[in-house]
Amino acid sequence: MTQVGIVGAGPAGLMLGHLLHLRGIDSVILENRSREYVIERVRAGVLEQGTVDLMREAGVGARLDREGMRHEGVYIAFRGRRHRVDMADLTGGRAITVYGQNEVVRDLIDARVGTGRPLDFDVSDVRLEGIETGRPVIHYRKAAGPQRITCEFIAGCDGFHGISRASIPSDRLQTYEKIYPFAWLGILANAPPSSPELVYSLHERGFALFSMRSDTVTRLYLQCRPDDDVAHWPDDRIWSELNARLRTDDGWQPNEGAIMQKGITPMRSFVVAPMRDGPLFLAGDAAHIVPPTGAKGLNLAMADVWRLADAFGHYYATGRDDRLKDYSARGLSRTWRAQRFSWWMTSMLHRNDSENPFDHERQLAELEYLVSSRAAMTSLAENYVGTPLE
Ligand code: APR
Ligand code: PHB
Repeated sequence: MTQVGIVGAGPAGLMLGHLLHLRGIDSVILENRSREYVIERVRAGVLEQGTVDLMREAGVGARLDREGMRHEGVYIAFRGRRHRVDMADLTGGRAITVYGQNEVVRDLIDARVGTGRPLDFDVSDVRLEGIETGRPVIHYRKAAGPQRITCEFIAGCDGFHGISRASIPSDRLQTYEKIYPFAWLGILANAPPSSPELVYSLHERGFALFSMRSDTVTRLYLQCRPDDDVAHWPDDRIWSELNARLRTDDGWQPNEGAIMQKGITPMRSFVVAPMRDGPLFLAGDAAHIVPPTGAKGLNLAMADVWRLADAFGHYYATGRDDRLKDYSARGLSRTWRAQRFSWWMTSMLHRNDSENPFDHERQLAELEYLVSSRAAMTSLAENYVGTPLE
């Protein structure tokens, strides 16, 4: 028996468990992968100001404060030139912090273990029952055999491919989806970053992104075909493509180094509404996916669980469920704002084979306008650093 059963130990599930703990609410977190897999899985790495503030307030920001890299600006590159957008100047001092999502997960697992509250990895056959009757039970299997937990509520934090969303009858959900005709090939390289800030580039050959993880590790991405395979991308092809797409006329280009990891990420926009069915609440990637161009995925997940923890806290403190009732509508409003921004960044910065030369010239005109107008740069900056958790 628990108050909130949490399915999934990604950033959403772990942060929710921690925020509930701080409010004295008990939870059980169930994860079907191993602890090592979850910690080592390489994901994005840009934290909005609101996510950084949340981690600090929740007491899990110490390593983030030591090792995270605060970036007050970002570069947009096209036609051989890099243009800096001074985000802090345009937003009254807000910035992003570069810190790998897997580091966030590692810190949250340490915090959970420190509380002594249950966190079970390597569980299988997770199944939800009783959602429609309001008496939810989570069934699952551990090495010791079949288990069941009766819950007052369930938080579905099990990502896009999880079982929580799939447990809701499809006639009670509306879904919105857009699949892009390209993907990202991402690498981690043992090379010191050659720019102190990120560089988003549109080149004739397609999109490329320069990012980093530390003083010695560079993270790079390039647009590839959606059906591409890393086997088609030997290291020398990756470097020649990255250099061609990122090098600017002033001679700037990424430093090369040994490639430690390679992976291909598909690009989609996805929203489900509502984010709740009776006692089951969806949060993070279980409820919405954004293409990675705006770096919003992790931040949206954090905003969801911050709101959900607040709603559960209010419910258990006062017996009133008004904030639980508002959870979905408020979440959808933030989600659609992030969807609009991520779609805009994605369409502005990728080559789309199905488009004609008009579209490419329009993209370049959009970029020229962006870097020459303080109003346009402010629009990018305020969305990129993210709106405060309200
Ligand atoms: N039972 C238990 N756990 C499950 C199940 C299941 N049936 N299915 C999936 N999971 C686990 C996954 O293994 C994963 O660890 O749920 C977790 C979901 O975590 P994430 O996919 O990281 O999703 P979320 O916590 O919502 O974080 C969103 O992740 O994909 C990125 O860009 C996205 O940065 C964003 C962040
Ligand atoms: C990353 O560093 O992994 C990263 C940065 C910016 C993005 C996406 C990913 O838009």
